[in-house]
Amino acid sequence: MTTRDAFTTGSSAGGSNDIATGGSALPETMRAARRVVYGTAADVIVAAAPRPEPAPGEVLIRVAAAGLDRATLHLLDGRPLAVRLALGLRRPRQTALGQQVAGEVVTIGDDVTTLAIGDRVCGTAIGSFADYAIAKPRTLARIPHGVSDPTAATLGVSGATAHQALVAGQVGPGQHVLIIGASGAVGTYAVQLAAHLGAHVTAVCSAGKIDLVKGLGAQRAFDYRAASLADTCGGDQPAYDVIIGLGGNRRLRDLRFVLAPEGRLILAGGEEGGPLLGGIERNLYAAIANVFTCQHLAGIFSAPTTEKLTTLVEVVAQAGIEPPVDRLVGLDGLPAGIEAMQRGELRGHVVVVP
Ligand SMILES: NC(=O)c1ccc[n+]([C@@H]2O[C@H](COP(=O)([O-])OP(=O)(O)OC[C@H]3O[C@@H](n4cnc5c(N)ncnc54)[C@H](OP(=O)(O)O)[C@@H]3O)[C@@H](O)[C@H]2O)c1
Repeated sequence: MTTRDAFTTGSSAGGSNDIATGGSALPETMRAARRVVYGTAADVIVAAAPRPEPAPGEVLIRVAAAGLDRATLHLLDGRPLAVRLALGLRRPRQTALGQQVAGEVVTIGDDVTTLAIGDRVCGTAIGSFADYAIAKPRTLARIPHGVSDPTAATLGVSGATAHQALVAGQVGPGQHVLIIGASGAVGTYAVQLAAHLGAHVTAVCSAGKIDLVKGLGAQRAFDYRAASLADTCGGDQPAYDVIIGLGGNRRLRDLRFVLAPEGRLILAGGEEGGPLLGGIERNLYAAIANVFTCQHLAGIFSAPTTEKLTTLVEVVAQAGIEPPVDRLVGLDGLPAGIEAMQRGELRGHVVVVP
């Protein structure tokens, strides 16, 4: 029996093609954002599309909110070029856009035992910039009471990456933590979560967002155009116990210079690398240098799981963390949101409410 069969209550009166899932009719079509070529925000198409059906082991989510993150920009322009080895050399194989999601499970595929129709979930789903999106249960967690859809919609990648970086950095009370790229989608979570853990947070961002990151819990903040890393350290400020790298592409030796002798450097991102590798090679250099030093140097890649997301969403609920939201937009507002992210204009997340 197919999933659709399992939840279909039969053709509705009047010959409609709507099917029923968990007691409520679902439309055959939906609105969705996609692209068919590598390009810019101008190549994003918002149009009608068939509503997807979950395969065995998948669920269908009615999207309540979907957070924009940097990966969408990389998927759009296919840069750094190395990502095209996975995405498609000439054209993107996956046309659907969006990966962070919050919403309600409306159909479950065969073999899904951990989620039920009606569950409110967050995490990652392919093509979340749409009315409906397909997800694997292992990349979803239930949303506890008190966490809003826009907040939950930014946890799957942005919140999860920040949390993973802080866990890898073993951030704890009283530690001095430097967050480079503190005003972005990941960085704002990193500041809030590190401050919640009782760390002393120093933030690096653009001058116009220093007030933003201080409002989120950073005790000190520096403009990356005006201050070097060495400027942020020294005097009353000891070397950092932990550095989280999310923006720019500072040299490993400069980062290590302001890191304590047994400090931890966690590289999660940065947008100023070359066209082929985009700076990811720095992670490789860090892994090599790590062998020869007492400092811990590592790169991370976000890999959200139900367990990690559940831990994160519970921390967010208990601490009352709410990420800054620059704008809530409908699907038609996505291209403008992408352009604003590219121009560095955002003061918080872009959340799509389809
Ligand atoms: N490893 C993973 O699995 C993973 C997951 C998610 C994201 N990422 C990566 O992590 C990075 C941050 O992602 P995001 O979504 O937070 O992006 P974002 O929202 O665009 O934030 C970028 C941040 O970098 C700052 N920045 C820009 N130029 C800088 C410079 N020269 N020096 C220092 N900081 C600079 C920005 O500051 P202003 O806005 O104030 O200019 C902003 O705080 C990206 O490179 C992204 O690809 C990695």
